Amino acid sequence: MFEEINNINIEVQNFQSKSLEEIDQFRISYLGKKGKITLLFNNFKLIPVEQKKEFGARLNILKSSALEKINLLKSSLKDHPKSKKTDTDYTIPGQPMNFGSRHPITLIRDRIINVFSHIGFSISEGPEVEDDWHNFTALNFPEEHPARDMQDTFFITDDIALRTHTSSVQVRVMENSKPPIRTISPGRVYRNEAISARAHCFFHQVEGLYIDKNVSFGDMKQTLLYFTKSLFGPDTKIRLRPSYFPFTEPSAEVDVSCTICSQKGCNVCKYSGWLEIMGCGMVDPNVLENCNINSNIYSGYAFGMGVERIAQLIYQVNDLRLYSENDLRFIKQFRSEI
Ligand code: PHE
Repeated sequence: MFEEINNINIEVQNFQSKSLEEIDQFRISYLGKKGKITLLFNNFKLIPVEQKKEFGARLNILKSSALEKINLLKSSLKDHPKSKKTDTDYTIPGQPMNFGSRHPITLIRDRIINVFSHIGFSISEGPEVEDDWHNFTALNFPEEHPARDMQDTFFITDDIALRTHTSSVQVRVMENSKPPIRTISPGRVYRNEAISARAHCFFHQVEGLYIDKNVSFGDMKQTLLYFTKSLFGPDTKIRLRPSYFPFTEPSAEVDVSCTICSQKGCNVCKYSGWLEIMGCGMVDPNVLENCNINSNIYSGYAFGMGVERIAQLIYQVNDLRLYSENDLRFIKQFRSEI
């Protein structure tokens, strides 16, 4: 009998389990009505009198160590993460979602792209770090010609600069494809200017280029009228003033009728009723030839507009610096636009 107690004790000590059912099964098979330990208690009467005391004491120790083991295993189960009660309160309202907003320059750029993509213009892009050839020479800026000073350039080396206009992309497109070409090139440009409300050292342009047989100045004018009406509304008028760019001949500056005062006169249009939005012209034959396009067969027009300028007119923001300062109070106001 004493040996039996020892064996059962070893079994109890060695028992391990992480499941509640197994622990319960263990309790029943040792301490239940027909459990091994309970049966030993029933055998108490069979024990010789002189041994009863020791047998009783050892049996009680066995029973309490079995109970202790059961409690220990059960409590280790409670610490187990799976069975841990969570103190998360699912009724607490969630964190508010912060909806992003698009930058006003992105919004206007996309609107410009949208208008032109409806009339068959593709989109092309070029590098912001550009060589002299694509930014100046191919565009008919003679070397040492003062026209290069029209745009204060950030030079990196003698030959490499930050592009001063997206017209550099015109050259790349003409060099790499055959007419008919109908493309717009949105992008960032850089000029070495002191930062103020009206000027910045970088801004954005959208360039347009159309090369085919028999393209006329009238085609350009009609396309630009379609564009301005789409962007500013059907009653918008345009006016072309003669201008000069080395890469277009003839060249013009495009004004739109003031959208703010409907040409009644306001301080945005300086009481003239007109606002300048872009430069344009017929691509100079020299530029076509520089890009291996036969200027006897093909002609074309180009235009370039400032995105900030157009955004200023649409949103009536009169300080250019706001577009690049990332002030959330400013940027968040454009949240509702798609
Ligand atoms: N590149 C000119 C500028 O930055 C704009 C322009 C583009 C003019 C195409 C004519 C044709 O001012």
